[in-house]
Amino acid sequence: MRANVNQLINEATPEEEVLLTSLRAAAWEDFLGQDEIKQALKIGTHAAKERGEALDHTLFYGPPGLGKTTLSHLIAKEMNSNIRVTSGTVLTKSGDLAAILTSLEPRDVLFIDEIHRLPKLVEETLYSAMEDYALDLVIGKGPAAKTVRIDLPPFTLVGATTKFGALTGPFRDRFGLTFRLQYYPAEKLQYIVKAAGDKLQLELDDKSAFLIAKRGRGTPRIALKLLKRVRDFAQVEHGGQINPHITDKALDLLKIDTLGLTQSDRFLLETIKEKFGGGPVGLSTIAAATSEDETTISEVTEPYLIQIGFIQKTPKGRVLTDLACRHLTS
Ligand SMILES: Nc1ncnc2c1ncn2[C@@H]1O[C@H](COP(=O)(O)OP(=O)(O)OP(=O)(O)O)[C@@H](O)[C@H]1O
Ligand SMILES: [Mg+2]
Repeated sequence: MRANVNQLINEATPEEEVLLTSLRAAAWEDFLGQDEIKQALKIGTHAAKERGEALDHTLFYGPPGLGKTTLSHLIAKEMNSNIRVTSGTVLTKSGDLAAILTSLEPRDVLFIDEIHRLPKLVEETLYSAMEDYALDLVIGKGPAAKTVRIDLPPFTLVGATTKFGALTGPFRDRFGLTFRLQYYPAEKLQYIVKAAGDKLQLELDDKSAFLIAKRGRGTPRIALKLLKRVRDFAQVEHGGQINPHITDKALDLLKIDTLGLTQSDRFLLETIKEKFGGGPVGLSTIAAATSEDETTISEVTEPYLIQIGFIQKTPKGRVLTDLACRHLTS
């Protein structure tokens, strides 16, 4: 079976989820990197707190695993408020949204993950909630239907999405703060891995941490999962001792190459190269040829390959770069 990037990012086992949650940064100091975003949020929350107001509605976008959920929790913590967590796939009825919104305390955070998946009707109900802290609900049906307005406490909607472009203009405009999360350079990821190693009470040397970071695709979530696999391997095969040699062996076993590419990444690149002469080739054709679904390719697999300069998006389709070809034959 091909190792899939999706398994690395999204499909955490319950045990892994517990581990990742336990490693979740609980204070700004533990959240490393993304300095501009941190700075803006620190100022925003400080000012809002001083005025006794809710923080402006905030939107995070960017590839999975870069810290959107963690930042949302940090905002709530900074505001000394509660956070309610839901997602665009769960919140399918305006009534459910109303139930959540009316249960909020002043300055609470409502976090909606995958906010681009909200049904249109729910999104539109959110407009007045965001703008006026009020809900306009239609009660009844047909000619007897009437609209009632319910006041809400001032709250902060925090939305997270991997697909900024899928949000409508009016929705985007209602967020006072919008941040794009960037992939982390390996040096930053190394610190994150090292800090997690400390929390897990591992004796992790800098070189091993860097080897993990380099294969972490610029993504803390992936780097932390790799750390866990290395820890398991070291425990079972080497009495818990971690060193660069063991780290390399563990990572090789996972079939993740030196740039963090999985077998499914390589398969995608090779397919473009072998079957389509390096492109240009359209997304749907790639999806059919690799038996992957289009959304996974465009939202999860491809952004990193574009980021490292292996794939270019052109009006005619995806094109493989020379850099990618050299890596494939290396
Ligand atoms: N800058 C960071 N410093 C330290 N740890 C981080 C950082 N960013 C993320 N992490 C850790 O990486 C893991 C994934 O982060 P998080 O769940 O916040 O990402 P996400 O962007 O919400 O991902 P998804 O899109 O998959 O929901 C968590 O365990 C989190 O603690
Ligand atoms: Mg998340």
